[in-house]
Amino acid sequence: MNSLRLRSLPHLLLALVLTFAGVQQASAQGAAADVNKKGVAPGATAAATPATATTPAAGGGDAAAIAAGDALFKGNCAQCHAVNEQVVGPALAGITKRRPVSWLIPWVKNSSKVVASGDDYAVALFNKFNKQQMPSFALSDKEITSILAYVTSQEGQATAATGGPTAGNAAAADGKADAAGAEEGAGKYVDILLIVLVVVLIVLVVTLVIIGNLMKDVLRGRKDLDGRDIEILEQRFDWGKLYRSPVMRGIVGTVFALVLLYEGVQSVMAVGLTQGYQPTQPIAFSHKLHAGEHQINCAYCHTSVYKAKSANIPSANICMNCHSQIKTESPEIKKIYRAIERKQPIQWVRVHNLPDLAYFNHSQHTQVAGLQCQTCHGPIQNMEVVYQYSALTMGWCINCHREMPLNTKDNKYYDNLVKLHDTKNAGAPFTVSSNGGTECSKCHY
Ligand code: HEC
Ligand code: HEC
Ligand code: HEC
Ligand code: HEC
Ligand code: HEC
Ligand code: HEC
Repeated sequence: MNSLRLRSLPHLLLALVLTFAGVQQASAQGAAADVNKKGVAPGATAAATPATATTPAAGGGDAAAIAAGDALFKGNCAQCHAVNEQVVGPALAGITKRRPVSWLIPWVKNSSKVVASGDDYAVALFNKFNKQQMPSFALSDKEITSILAYVTSQEGQATAATGGPTAGNAAAADGKADAAGAEEGAGKYVDILLIVLVVVLIVLVVTLVIIGNLMKDVLRGRKDLDGRDIEILEQRFDWGKLYRSPVMRGIVGTVFALVLLYEGVQSVMAVGLTQGYQPTQPIAFSHKLHAGEHQINCAYCHTSVYKAKSANIPSANICMNCHSQIKTESPEIKKIYRAIERKQPIQWVRVHNLPDLAYFNHSQHTQVAGLQCQTCHGPIQNMEVVYQYSALTMGWCINCHREMPLNTKDNKYYDNLVKLHDTKNAGAPFTVSSNGGTECSKCHY
């Protein structure tokens, strides 16, 4: 009876482990499929393959022209146009078949002139889009044809773009997004490896236990064992002894105390810190959608960020440039209309807020120093809801000022200072702090 139970135990364990391993493997395979999807969806390869495939259709456009057109499109057109879906203006897919290049070039240069000339197609289109004027562009003929080549190269991606969440635009987000994607892929790969290792370990441990039990069974069957052998054979692990051991109690106690101390220090250090603050906003406005997918320039809404101390929050009028046409039935958009009807500003909740004792100027950092918004605000273009990315402590400001070299290129103001600095401390980088950027009075009134 006893030996029967002992023998069925390993079988039960084995069955358990096999099911567990099966589940793990299935999920690991799921993850692997994910990695594949990631690898193909956005990024350089996806953009490049259809580009070369459709090159003849692009009208002699080569890869260089498409790349140039890509940049021009994103810089000038993407805020209103997508290739495969209507945004503010029509989807541009098939445009070279709809219209001859001899029509398109003057149109992009000055669309209102074409409309004013009485061109039937232009007038009909203009009316269809509620007489919304497309801006004029001082682009050369060559630049416009390269944009057209790019548009043609993207046409094949119609289904891809609607399938995934606007893969085309997402790919456009920027190089950083691609890199992040690749990193994520690598992360998944490591995850799979870890899972496989854990499974192998578990299988090993269980196999050893099974072998041990089998050997014990064999030994029990033997008659020539003396008392000492039997004692070893029937030895059990004594948990009670471990629990009573002062060494073990000491170790557990110390670890517990250390964890408590660490948590305590962390929460004391965080007093007054608002990093990560993410209030709910009155309208579900998404930077991911506007600045990420639709590539609307930050300064299109935050108009003063390169010119003034503060970056303004856009008024409802700026929203109306587009939302007088787009998603007019959405309840979220109706909140904008209501604010305008009542002549009351939208009550956005402020996210970033330095205390009054500190002076911070945006234009100094964006225009003069040439810093990217993301350096301080993080990946805003991926945020559904904005949160405070940086600590905004004095230490944070000063650390950057100590390390960051001044952007002295093409800035006459710095010419003499650079010469002075170079003669005095040749070789040392001309950082913000070497120009007095860590003096109290620079940041405190
Ligand atoms: C501010 C928004 C806006 C920007 C920016 C913009 N467009 Fe347009 N575009 C429109 C609108 C709106 C229309 C529809 C016609 C109209 O209402 O004037 C249009 C129409 C067009 C058409 C005709 C489409 C068709 O189906 O016949 C082409 C081609 C075009 N735009 C190309 C461009 C290019 C190229 C750029 C970038 C250099 C650009 N647009 C930038 C708003 C814009
Ligand atoms: C279509 C308009 C629009 C565009 C484009 C836009 N923003 Fe905003 N931004 C807003 C609005 C509206 C708010 C206030 C609501 C909120 O916090 O989400 C805001 C809030 C913010 C805030 C938080 C302000 C605070 O309360 O402290 C930051 C930071 C910010 N934007 C940075 C950016 C950056 C960086 C970009 C470009 C990558 C960008 N925005 C593009 C409209 C825009
Ligand atoms: C340059 C054009 C443009 C401007 C300016 C703009 N938006 Fe948008 N907005 C869009 C586009 C494009 C969409 C996506 C529409 C879609 O998904 O079909 C959108 C979608 C939205 C949505 C989601 C609507 C829904 O129900 O899905 C909200 C909310 C929104 N915008 C709020 C705002 C607010 C608030 C402002 C002003 C601070 C603003 N937008 C300014 C172009 C713009
Ligand atoms: C050197 C860091 C830094 C850079 C670069 C930067 N910001 Fe800021 N931003 C801040 C700080 C700090 C605040 C809080 C200012 C305050 O409370 O007075 C802030 C606040 C804001 C606000 C809230 C309104 C305000 O002025 O308080 C907006 C909107 C904003 N930033 C947008 C942007 C945009 C858009 C860019 C890029 C064009 C940008 N920022 C670049 C550090 C930066
Ligand atoms: C990511 C780096 C970075 C961060 C973070 C940063 N700064 Fe700066 N700051 C600069 C650079 C670069 C300059 C030099 C701009 C120039 O060329 O005048 C500068 C210049 C300044 C100046 C003018 C200094 C002078 O010599 O005239 C002030 C004031 C200032 N920063 C305040 C702040 C405050 C306050 C914060 C924190 C809330 C902050 N900065 C955070 C990079 C940074
Ligand atoms: C680069 C900008 C910068 C410089 C230089 C700077 N500070 Fe600050 N300081 C700040 C900012 C930003 C805060 C607010 C940080 C916060 O709220 O956590 C601050 C906060 C403080 C506070 C804390 C106030 C409070 O309520 O907690 C004191 C005190 C202070 N600074 C003193 C100084 C002194 C003294 C110097 C010169 C040795 C100096 N600071 C130089 C940016 C600066």
